[in-house]
Amino acid sequence: MTYVARDIVETRRAVAEARTAGKTVGLVPTMGALHEGHLSLVRASAADCGYTVVSVFVNPTQFGPGEDLERYPRGLENDAKLAGDAGAELIFAPTTDTMYPAGYATYVEVERLTDGLCGARRPGHFRGVTTVVTKLFNICKPDAAYFGQKDAQQAVIIKRMVRDLDLDIEIRVLPTVREPDGLAMSSRNEYLSAEERLQATCLYRALQRAEELYAERVRSVGRIIAEMTAIVEAERDTRIDYISAVDAEELSPIEEITAPALVALAVFVGETRLIDNVVLG
Ligand code: PAF
Repeated sequence: MTYVARDIVETRRAVAEARTAGKTVGLVPTMGALHEGHLSLVRASAADCGYTVVSVFVNPTQFGPGEDLERYPRGLENDAKLAGDAGAELIFAPTTDTMYPAGYATYVEVERLTDGLCGARRPGHFRGVTTVVTKLFNICKPDAAYFGQKDAQQAVIIKRMVRDLDLDIEIRVLPTVREPDGLAMSSRNEYLSAEERLQATCLYRALQRAEELYAERVRSVGRIIAEMTAIVEAERDTRIDYISAVDAEELSPIEEITAPALVALAVFVGETRLIDNVVLG
């Protein structure tokens, strides 16, 4: 039976016991509403590490005004069952007051890498992510932490934060898990109506077109983005937030693909904002 800890002291105690028993510790940070994408991370951690902690916390500091903080799907009991079945030993599910008690004043910020893509569209989002992830690292003290490639910018930022702050944690980034029709798994897919769900495959189709063009030796970012835009705009209920190609490590804008490039997009399908990406080259 997976143990659900609500507070920091009991989480630290459980992790310390696992360490005393000679186990390595893996952490899978999540906001809950677990799907196959999260569970692939839990399984990887359980395969690599003797003790796996899954954190479940809908982190308010990474949501902007008017975003879906209140609406974000929550279901701790089901998450604990799914995570346990996938190999987690401990669920850390703190309350907001536990993570951000009255008087809370400290934030972690990564510069430059947070300027573009989702960082430009969701001001303050990554500051909230890096702050909560640092806190989760300090509480759970993992040897390794697992993140999904679907949140590619988040993964690059967290890797850089770990490097810059000399945190002794290995960051492992696992491939995006997709529905059979290519839609990237996301807790937010639950918001889509049946009609929107069909249209939502345009993100993956646009990325596939980018891959095809790259395979045909097209290197012009302008051409690739133009073709992706046409695919997304062909759907009735879509609104492009951004479609961009950036250097895969520095996340700086590029015009030609000459080194590994992250091609990423964020698209509103109805009211639901979805993201996805591929790396070319
Ligand atoms: O990727 C997420 O679900 C969140 O951004 C994370 C890493 C759990 C931090 O709240």
